[in-house]
Amino acid sequence: MQLDRRGFLAGASSALFFGCGSSGHDFPWSKNATYLNNAGWHPCYVEAAGAARRYLDFTVEGRGDSGVGTFRKAKELYGKLINAKESELSFVQSTLTGENLVSLGLGLHEAKGNVVTDELHYHGGAYIYRRLQERGLELRLIRQKDWRISLEDYERAIDGNTRLVALTLVSNINGYMHDAAAVSGIAHSRGAYVYADVVQSAGCVPMDVRAMGIDFCSASTYKWLMGLRGLGFFYVREELQGKVLKPVMFGDRQYADFEFHNFPGSPPGSGDVSYHEVAGGEMFEVGNVSNIAIAAQVESLRYIHELGVDKILAHARPLCERLMEELPKMGYPCITPPGSPTPIVAFLVENPEETQARLKKANVVAKIKWRQMRISPSVYNTMADVEKLLRALA
Ligand SMILES: Cc1ncc(COP(=O)(O)O)c(C=O)c1O
Repeated sequence: MQLDRRGFLAGASSALFFGCGSSGHDFPWSKNATYLNNAGWHPCYVEAAGAARRYLDFTVEGRGDSGVGTFRKAKELYGKLINAKESELSFVQSTLTGENLVSLGLGLHEAKGNVVTDELHYHGGAYIYRRLQERGLELRLIRQKDWRISLEDYERAIDGNTRLVALTLVSNINGYMHDAAAVSGIAHSRGAYVYADVVQSAGCVPMDVRAMGIDFCSASTYKWLMGLRGLGFFYVREELQGKVLKPVMFGDRQYADFEFHNFPGSPPGSGDVSYHEVAGGEMFEVGNVSNIAIAAQVESLRYIHELGVDKILAHARPLCERLMEELPKMGYPCITPPGSPTPIVAFLVENPEETQARLKKANVVAKIKWRQMRISPSVYNTMADVEKLLRALA
């Protein structure tokens, strides 16, 4: 059974998620497979794809929508999602671009000190600090215990020489969610800043960067933000912009009223050129951004806000709980801590190839890597999808 926006909203208000019809569909991808890998690559919301097509029409025919008018709206809607001001947000290419801007902007490549991260942080992010070890940075890696990262270990690892604590708010490995407020409390009391990779939480887990004490965060839009690749948002707490976190790349988007003064006919002025620097998140943007991805993103952000992130999560949780209850009995131990408040659950598998083959035969998509199977239901999935997966693995 497929769930569209009308069905979801009807279900959300009556708590009968699975009794909905399937007139129209917000995620046609899910008609082709029982798709349960939204943490890997979420299908694009159908209206977002429509906005992208309108942009393409513009580039081909000069008619349609250039997408420029959607930039402010996108930042407004991102801000609403994480409790940030529009001026605290920048467009970036992806999650990891944001994390690199933090590492470079704090000068971690030239300063001494340490970075604290953990085994459940995204490996691409951890790679940044591994590379910086070559330049003298000390990397303190906290090991997972029972698939959690303990606050006691943070207490031990963070000290007066810690420059940054880098974590993935909701782990891509098992959906574990950090107690960000507690971690940032420890970090801030010792003079360290906190970066959170929020690509597995933005759009599917309620977030408040202020309450969570997050100083910097970023997320791509092709996962729970239901958009396209090539775009992400980057948050930098207002007081830190340009002071603690310096821009490290420079270009057009960072100044306004640019004028040459020495060219024929150009306005008179002192010096060769004049301009003024713009404040806010644009100081971390350089050149053109992805109009097509921003135009698409605005549609999916509207959709996410209309459904409500709390309801999106509340819809996925019973599906995750059923999996956590049934799969261990079937020989797949769960590696997501009990009560985990996210739409991602993971299990160990004895034989990854065989498990993958069974899912493939049933046309069910979950992520299997090494000996881990990750399942991440979204708004259009129903309990019937979960039952189908369980039958395939029984
Ligand atoms: C937690 C996490 N961070 C980052 C990424 C990918 O980074 P980017 O958005 O820069 O492509 C992934 C992709 O799976 C992820 O799960």
